[in-house]
Amino acid sequence: MNQTDLQHLLDIESLSQQQLISLLESSHQIAHDPGVFSNRLKGRVLINLFLEPSTRTRVSFEIAAKHLGMHVINFQPGFSSAVKGEALIDTFHTLQAMRPDVITVRHARDGVVKSLAAEADEGVHIINAGDGSYQHPTQALLDTVTLQAVCGDLTGLTVTIVGDIMHSRVARSGIALFKKLGVRCIRLAGPVELLPADEIDGVESYTTLDEAVGGANVIMMLRIQRERFGQLELPDENAYFDTWGLTQKRLDLASPGCVVLHPGPVNRGVEIAPDVADGEHSLIRQQVRNGVYTRMAVLLALLD
Ligand code: CP
Repeated sequence: MNQTDLQHLLDIESLSQQQLISLLESSHQIAHDPGVFSNRLKGRVLINLFLEPSTRTRVSFEIAAKHLGMHVINFQPGFSSAVKGEALIDTFHTLQAMRPDVITVRHARDGVVKSLAAEADEGVHIINAGDGSYQHPTQALLDTVTLQAVCGDLTGLTVTIVGDIMHSRVARSGIALFKKLGVRCIRLAGPVELLPADEIDGVESYTTLDEAVGGANVIMMLRIQRERFGQLELPDENAYFDTWGLTQKRLDLASPGCVVLHPGPVNRGVEIAPDVADGEHSLIRQQVRNGVYTRMAVLLALLD
């Protein structure tokens, strides 16, 4: 296992190339033989401070930590003193006063995790488990590990990311990571009002799905993030599927052997046809499995 001297994991941009490569290599090593790492962090303490719903990220952090022998506390906002009006910063200081080793934080607001990390005591490591539309670094890592396991070197690939990109922390972290790894071609596709407002260096935007998936090696589908729409009008789901849904017919336009990613949760029949989500090109279940190994790698990089 390489040393990465990682203090917190807040975003992809702040990782050095060495830290990034080390995290990816460690994830592959762990995936190859997870048992070797059992109890490596025995007795250390993880708090999952999730203030926005999650299935995959929260559970996989818990399983990852337990594989490593850690104690896990899942903060339950609905049964906490947050409902009595306690401010997040006070909740955070209260939790870290109990001397956990790691706090994973998920929150609906961009940048919250970074501001909490600035308040972290020495020896308390913060992991961004997804904040608003800003960052989801462990998702980008697990997506990359999944692709590397299937495709090997990613540099020559064309990766198409489709859907509600403007609100997607998964897309933001994924693009940053793919760029760091030198992926040749990154395409974004979606309704024009859901594409990023500003151009992203080295990334092409498309407003038709057929063009965007033509010749692609990887297609990453994203759900419509209803919870972040605010005043924006939500698209009609049937019309959205007709224009932006990934069907087998559209997948046939991609490069042979093209693989399909989706961070989940999947809305079947909205952004992806059920037969594609469950089909032989889909890596959705592998992504979930690799999430455990990748999160073990992150915990080890912070604490081992
Ligand atoms: N991909 C992802 O973050 O899923 P959850 O919201 O279920 O954690």
